[in-house]
Amino acid sequence: MRTSDLIDLDAGTLSRESFASEDIFRRELENVFVPSWSYVGHTSQLAKNGDFFLSRVGVEQVIVSRGNDGAINVLLNSCRHRGMPACRYDTGNMQSFTCSYHGWTYGLDGALTGVPKFQSRYQGKLDRDKWGLIKARVTVYYGSIWATFDDAQPSFEDYLGPDMQFYLRALMQGADGEDDGYEVIGGIVKWQVPCNWKFGAENFAGDHYHGYSHRSVERLSVGLSGKTSRHNFANVKVARQPMSVADPKRGHTIRASVYASLAPYDEQEAASDEVNAYYRKCHEERERRLGDKARLLIHGGVIFPNTHFNSAGRTTIGLWLPQSAGRTEVWRWLFVPKNAPNAVKDTLREYYLRYAGPAGMVEQDDMENWTAAQAGTQGVIARKHPFNYQLAMGLERPSRPGEWLGDEVSITEDVTEHNQRHFYAHWARLVAGAQ
Ligand code: FES
Ligand SMILES: [Fe+2]
Repeated sequence: MRTSDLIDLDAGTLSRESFASEDIFRRELENVFVPSWSYVGHTSQLAKNGDFFLSRVGVEQVIVSRGNDGAINVLLNSCRHRGMPACRYDTGNMQSFTCSYHGWTYGLDGALTGVPKFQSRYQGKLDRDKWGLIKARVTVYYGSIWATFDDAQPSFEDYLGPDMQFYLRALMQGADGEDDGYEVIGGIVKWQVPCNWKFGAENFAGDHYHGYSHRSVERLSVGLSGKTSRHNFANVKVARQPMSVADPKRGHTIRASVYASLAPYDEQEAASDEVNAYYRKCHEERERRLGDKARLLIHGGVIFPNTHFNSAGRTTIGLWLPQSAGRTEVWRWLFVPKNAPNAVKDTLREYYLRYAGPAGMVEQDDMENWTAAQAGTQGVIARKHPFNYQLAMGLERPSRPGEWLGDEVSITEDVTEHNQRHFYAHWARLVAGAQ
């Protein structure tokens, strides 16, 4: 398969087969998902030694555990004997994982510690050092946990590249700009959507264009305060420049805005005096910590290929987990500032629930679109005609010296499909087997 079978960069088009073909889906698993670093969770989910939870890397289930030495392990949840999950609980605290089929037992670090009939029938010869759970390489980045099973991958920091390092660090800062300032609240929200994983990914990567879909919900007061519409940041009375920022070499994308000046705090935004007082203090702290960079507002983006995030009002990280060409499982972690009063945490939780996820009024619109768009890839006639990604083609530019949006990024201001073009260009290179 050639890259040009999938994408035409000059024309700004992408084949519908990219969303419909099970053959391309299998190539994605091999060429896109295995050679990547994946977000698997957050350190606040592992407060004590022995804490663990299940997560995913691509289609594979993993155990994320904190060992008795405090180190974080990411283990393929597949018993080395016959492949049963070694752990069948979503989350908990344990000293070991015993497979429910024949009873092989593994430590928190994946070491094979117990084998029934080890002396009598294996005659003490089974090499337990060789038959532990498969371990991933792990990196903790400002509280977020990342894993890869691909030894050929560069370090996580090199995989991110210098510019995405800056954005991910900024994403993981609390509302007051403190590094690693968040904790996960309420576990992981999980649901399925009957569409290809890339419909979600490209929407989060850079779709500033689909406000049309959300016009009905725009009329409701679903915002953080429950008194204004969903985009609280639009209430700030300082000019704001929306940007699409992409790393062409690595496929990462950011949606962000830069305010013209450090924005005065707007008292209309918060839900109560207590919440308002908290955010006013955060605003001052953030300016003190970040200086001019406090003008940056990250709306969301994608760390290639399927880790997505949202901030601007609420901070979430999620995964588009591929199930088949036409089915995706979505996992979503909601973060709250760990030092915030409970009133703030409740405000954010309630905001998330009415906004996002399977019951959220905004994301329901998106999922309905993606489901119907997936159906639009199925017809024999329809499949012959590519999708159009020409919006604002030719308007992109490299970052300017001193702009601090990144050194290796490409930028387009305002509404564009610039980020989607870069996401798919990198994706198509990998699917075709090129680097
Ligand atoms: S499958 Fe796990 S012990 Fe046999
Ligand atoms: Fe949307």
